[in-house]
Amino acid sequence: MFNLTPQQQITPKMLNYAMTLIDPVSYVLQHHKIKGKPITFDVPNYDQNRAVAHRPWQKKIIRASASEERDVCVIKSRQLGLSEVAVESIIYWLDTHSKYKTKGLYAFPTYR
Ligand SMILES: Nc1ncnc2c1ncn2[C@@H]1O[C@H](COP(=O)(O)OP(=O)(O)OP(=O)(O)O)[C@@H](O)[C@H]1O
Ligand SMILES: [Mg+2]
Repeated sequence: MFNLTPQQQITPKMLNYAMTLIDPVSYVLQHHKIKGKPITFDVPNYDQNRAVAHRPWQKKIIRASASEERDVCVIKSRQLGLSEVAVESIIYWLDTHSKYKTKGLYAFPTYR
């Protein structure tokens, strides 16, 4: 990944970069922001004040979407963050396949 010579040391920054890239959930937690704020998947201890930020189901969908699976089907109610998850997943996929100069197009459904 870093094309190090045998003399060059792996730095903590490099290690963090590589470890984070392995898992799409870690990747989006580190790199993805929504309106400048970090995203959340888990709110611990049943904290009712932050209950709407508790979205643990997104993690499995992100990992499936970023995998080599051809189809990922989700049955959902509205406003569970699936548009956000879809964009995060395609960015992860593009970044992790960038050596192939991969291009992506994400289309949102519209009324028309
Ligand atoms: N993990 C997250 N952390 C912080 N905010 C989030 C997260 N996931 C979603 N949101 C926010 O929650 C709201 C709903 O997300 P989104 O529009 O992606 O949901 P959706 O399931 O696609 O909704 P709809 O059913 O209306 O299409 C948005 O404002 C989005 O930015
Ligand atoms: Mg949506």
